[in-house]
Amino acid sequence: MANVYRMMDDAELQATKDALDHEAEVLASKLLRLDMARGKPNKDQINLSRPMLDILASDSDLTDDGVDASNYGVSDGLPTARKLGADLLGVPYEQVIVENSASLEIMYNIISAIWSHGISGEKPWSEQGQLKFLCPVPGYDRHFAITEHFGFENVPVAMNDDGPDMDEVCRMVETDASVKGIWCVPKYANPTGITYSDEVVRRFAALKPAAPDFRIFWDNAYIVHHLYDEGDELTNIFDVIDSNGDDTERDGLVFEFASTSKLTFPGSGISWLASSMVDRAWYERSLALRRVCPNKMVQLAHVRFLPDVDAVSQHMKKHAELLRPRFELVEKRLSEALGELGIATWTHPRGGYFVSFEGPEGSAQAIVRAAAELGVTLTGAGATWPSGNDPHDSNIRIAPTYPSLDELDAALEVFVLCVKMVALRLELERRG
Ligand SMILES: Cc1ncc(COP(=O)(O)O)c(C=O)c1O
Repeated sequence: MANVYRMMDDAELQATKDALDHEAEVLASKLLRLDMARGKPNKDQINLSRPMLDILASDSDLTDDGVDASNYGVSDGLPTARKLGADLLGVPYEQVIVENSASLEIMYNIISAIWSHGISGEKPWSEQGQLKFLCPVPGYDRHFAITEHFGFENVPVAMNDDGPDMDEVCRMVETDASVKGIWCVPKYANPTGITYSDEVVRRFAALKPAAPDFRIFWDNAYIVHHLYDEGDELTNIFDVIDSNGDDTERDGLVFEFASTSKLTFPGSGISWLASSMVDRAWYERSLALRRVCPNKMVQLAHVRFLPDVDAVSQHMKKHAELLRPRFELVEKRLSEALGELGIATWTHPRGGYFVSFEGPEGSAQAIVRAAAELGVTLTGAGATWPSGNDPHDSNIRIAPTYPSLDELDAALEVFVLCVKMVALRLELERRG
């Protein structure tokens, strides 16, 4: 669709600008203070898990499958919590470890352990010279920050509607031994909300990396976070690897992660790691040095509250009831205000926590700044690219989950106005 501002003559453009400036003055006078920056659950979502706080009491049985949750023991986590993770991820029980809250910490720890001690019999990454990590963009800033912290060159890879550009991924992973990993959020990706297609997952599973110590970091953070009863289907990467035959070279291709952060209480939950048995044994060696065992009381509370996949699905339906209206409001406001202008596109997720917005080239920073001036905090422009550097300066991550519906509505009014003002200004600048 053509940019309407480009088709206007100078007088029309000026008249439109005056009208938008007037709208901005009205919004400024409201002295708004709204935050649409990070993907946090809202208060009502958090309250859904309060009953979990009543489950463990001083007279509760604190054993789980014969394991005493209240004392040291079982460094790989409570049996029932492991089973829940195995069922959610669709992997054998033996391949799963349950840790404390924060899957991000497991990701960091794995990278740190390979950095210092190596994996698959290879030299530590710290001794292998300049290394690369692939970063599908737009992506999750905290992923990119971890690999940047360890000195990797974060290499952007384009995201398509069905996942990362696999021609590019295959080319780099299979020909360049300095490529050691790739960040993936395969379901309801942060921030696009897309789910990788069956073909993309199969191509990942069939990768023949040039580096034996290459790993896919498969962060299934939004595995059960559907907005609609009919959720996106993600092919199970471990099933596909298995169906490719038992090839020991590929024994360690994938580390998969998930957590209860957006099921129960973010920061106070449990997280899961699934990997090949060889990688599991490797990981446990460093785990055993770091702690005797995880916080099993929290694990116990979680599995008593959410004992199986069915309980998780029922619980997530309640989250969806609260989130769906917010996502639908984003879609409605963006399409009403911008749908006919030809200046922006955005994604239409059916799950997850974000909408990814693409404005005109060179607009994102200015939109975020303009919104801040009108009292609306957005995720920083560029955050979805490695080092916060979006070369097109066009992507903005919309995080609609935290504000109330009224606050979100007000924030979106400001947002679409800022998009129009900046797009119009870019057109004026183009005309000189
Ligand atoms: C893709 C992704 N992974 C991980 C996390 C953080 O998860 P955790 O709280 O388990 O560290 C988030 C949080 O926003 C996320 O979006």
